[in-house]
Amino acid sequence: ESAALLNAIIENAIDGIITIDERGLIESINPSACKLFQYTPAEVTGKNVSMLMPPPDRNNHDEYINRYQNTGRAHIIGIGREVTGLRKDGSQFPFRLAVSEVKYSGRKIYTGFIHDISREKEAEEQLKDYA
Ligand code: HEM
Repeated sequence: ESAALLNAIIENAIDGIITIDERGLIESINPSACKLFQYTPAEVTGKNVSMLMPPPDRNNHDEYINRYQNTGRAHIIGIGREVTGLRKDGSQFPFRLAVSEVKYSGRKIYTGFIHDISREKEAEEQLKDYA
């Protein structure tokens, strides 16, 4: 069955996958994203996705979503961006964020794909020391 297949793909994805509703509240989070941010699904489900980022984005993220919904002008959807995530222990890490808008059973949700790039960033920093 295709729903079971899709679920297996999401559960086993290497990248983190988070879905939010139109208000920015987390509806689902896959095991990779849980591991990256150090939370269990129960700790984040129903909470604002802004809990997973440091300021200033943390304070502005609702506004980002509202602006997009009001203007249709995307800054990340279909473009992607390097952003900073905030783990439960307070540490931060860089990742590549891709967001897409999905029409799902008559309503709109957003899907975020999280690709950890901390290793690449570390290597980049070390290379700078040799330059
Ligand atoms: C917009 C940061 C996670 C959904 C934005 C913007 C920033 C941002 C900076 C707007 C950029 C601008 O207006 O110039 C972050 C950070 C995250 C994060 C730091 C770290 C956790 C997510 C996740 C989702 C998401 C996981 C979806 C599941 C959106 C949506 C918009 C947006 C729907 C508005 C559309 C757009 O601007 O293209 N975010 N975001 N964000 N973000 Fe996030």
